[in-house]
Amino acid sequence: MDLKSQINIEKLPRHIAIIMDGNGRWAKQHGKARVFGHRNGVTAVRETTEAAAELGVEYLTLYAFSTENWKRPKMEVSALMRLLVETLHKEIDTLNKNDIRLQAIGDISKLPKSTYKTLLEGIENTKDNKRMTLVLALNYSAKWEIMEASRQLARQVQAGEITPDDIDEAAFSNALNTKGIPDPELLIRTSGETRLSNFLLWQIAYAELYFTSIFWPDFRKENLFNAIIDFQRRERRFGKISEQVVQ
Ligand code: FPP
Repeated sequence: MDLKSQINIEKLPRHIAIIMDGNGRWAKQHGKARVFGHRNGVTAVRETTEAAAELGVEYLTLYAFSTENWKRPKMEVSALMRLLVETLHKEIDTLNKNDIRLQAIGDISKLPKSTYKTLLEGIENTKDNKRMTLVLALNYSAKWEIMEASRQLARQVQAGEITPDDIDEAAFSNALNTKGIPDPELLIRTSGETRLSNFLLWQIAYAELYFTSIFWPDFRKENLFNAIIDFQRRERRFGKISEQVVQ
């Protein structure tokens, strides 16, 4: 039986989040500059997006640039920003053809002007698409997001719009960048690192974590299928009461 047909479509995670890691090491393995790894990472982005949409996953969030990534060499940061613009220009038609909506989380107004502008255009041009939402985390960090949400709620309290007791889990979730997006049920990290790196810390409270040693540029549909199969196995073991488990 092929991998895809081992997936139970009725039990798909609604939201998958991915920490795309290992582009630099992949490039080094191939004797190339780090940027070569990022360029090849785009193929993995395309494959993964296509596979998730084909299966019927509703939300796919990709960690493309963290607030900490500004500390990288200037040349790498500008190459990444250019790659984003180039990729968005190239792929918007494909997103529309596949009925995929683009969204972004993070402090995106601080991105270089051309990246910010292209991103907003992409979001606007795909806003009516319904099949899947592709969320790019750009200039994102979970601590920043949580601090912003806290400030927003504090201002509302100060203005007398809400009381401190109104701040419950739902109110806090609604103050985050991911407002309206269900929490990820599956978080994947490539490259063998087993860290969360400041990604969606509030939202992954109950997510299943899946780590693979594959470097991001090598990640293909089959790797996504494997992660989902693993997720569904865990769900089967922990999701039901023992009387429901088929022996
Ligand atoms: C992590 O690998 C990767 C990134 C910080 C950037 C990811 C960007 C892309 C795949 C390109 C474009 C993306 C989109 C959504 C169009 P690393 O550089 O940290 O690798 P290393 O840990 O081996 O050094």
